[in-house]
Amino acid sequence: MFAQTLYTGTREENYETVIQQLEALITGEQDMIANLSNASALLNQFLDDINWVGFYLWKENELVLGPFQGLPACIRIPSGRGVCGTAVEQKTTMLIENVHEFPGHIACDPQSKSEIVIPMIKNEEVIGVLDIDSPNYNRFDKIDETYLEKFVGTLMKQI
Ligand code: SME
Repeated sequence: MFAQTLYTGTREENYETVIQQLEALITGEQDMIANLSNASALLNQFLDDINWVGFYLWKENELVLGPFQGLPACIRIPSGRGVCGTAVEQKTTMLIENVHEFPGHIACDPQSKSEIVIPMIKNEEVIGVLDIDSPNYNRFDKIDETYLEKFVGTLMKQI
């Protein structure tokens, strides 16, 4: 059973704790959908001020919606479109302070105001992205970027 934790340390310490929780959840489990589902649920109970967290998976030349927490979302996103498609095209994390200023942003939930997207890279190929939306402007910063990349790196060991 998952034991809920009070995250009482610094932001960095709390991220380290959640990454340890992720390791415990995925160790020994090979099923990707199960691991991504638990990863999205883990982040959802950890992160404040977010309205969507989940994965898109690269399938036959486009991103397709994967496990997530939040409102129903857009299902297919081509490479180069929106924040997620740009993260795939550029193979880099996208940290967007104000999604309304991002050309081509795909508004799945009108509440979303800022967003971070981290590509999932295996053997130098993007196999998907972790996407997190917030109803606040400027919700994500360098600390989130560093530790969410570490979170995805941990997840990728089991995918
Ligand atoms: N806003 C994203 C689309 C996915 S939703 O946020 C869940 C984008 O522009 O790629």
